[in-house]
Amino acid sequence: MGHLLAPSMLASDFANLQRDMEMINASEADWFHLDVMDGVFVPNISFGMPVIEAMAKHATKPLDVHLMIVDPDRYLKTFADLGARVLTVHLEACNHLHRTLSAIRDLGMLAGVAVNPHTPVEGLSDVLNDLDLVCLMSVNPGFGGQKFIPKTFDKTRKLRNMMNEAGSNAHIEIDGGVGLNNWKSLVDAGADVLVAGSSTFKAADPHAAIREMKGLG
Ligand code: DX5
Ligand code: ZN
Repeated sequence: MGHLLAPSMLASDFANLQRDMEMINASEADWFHLDVMDGVFVPNISFGMPVIEAMAKHATKPLDVHLMIVDPDRYLKTFADLGARVLTVHLEACNHLHRTLSAIRDLGMLAGVAVNPHTPVEGLSDVLNDLDLVCLMSVNPGFGGQKFIPKTFDKTRKLRNMMNEAGSNAHIEIDGGVGLNNWKSLVDAGADVLVAGSSTFKAADPHAAIREMKGLG
């Protein structure tokens, strides 16, 4: 199976969320990537539960929720009830990551772990069979439109090897600064989910940008 494309709604027009979601529904993109920020784990605040509840009514594709919040255990069930298909927590925000991942799976969601650019992928070695997705942050989380950190290529290759050795076929998602110039190299390195915020919504022709990043262009 080919790779998945997950446009980040952070780069959409918040005053036209329904319009922008319908554009994604009608496109070749696969998931909605929803970035939840608390102003504590990251230096920005995005949107939370009431907005996601409204968004969920319009989405015909899975919701991939990326929690950039401290102590995410408080809200796992809330996001399950809101309809999240993938729920991703940050390694740096979890004291008991194994427990958190088990709880996410028990709630019927795919369990994701995101790691900041400074966090070595080796820190995931003992939970590779307990997760369904690793989100490699290729920018420091908190904002859209930042520059891609090239070290991510090494991390992607290393993590894919680690997963192969562990017998895991979990997704590797790349988040931040992904666009027309690097999506192919990331897929070649072993990534299979690409988050694309600015490169989708700021494109002159978002449908064409999506097709191109899906390798259909
Ligand atoms: C950053 C978020 C990303 C962001 C990506 O904290 O996790 O999902 O929306 O935006 P772009 O694709 O514009 O770098
Ligand atoms: Zn994200």
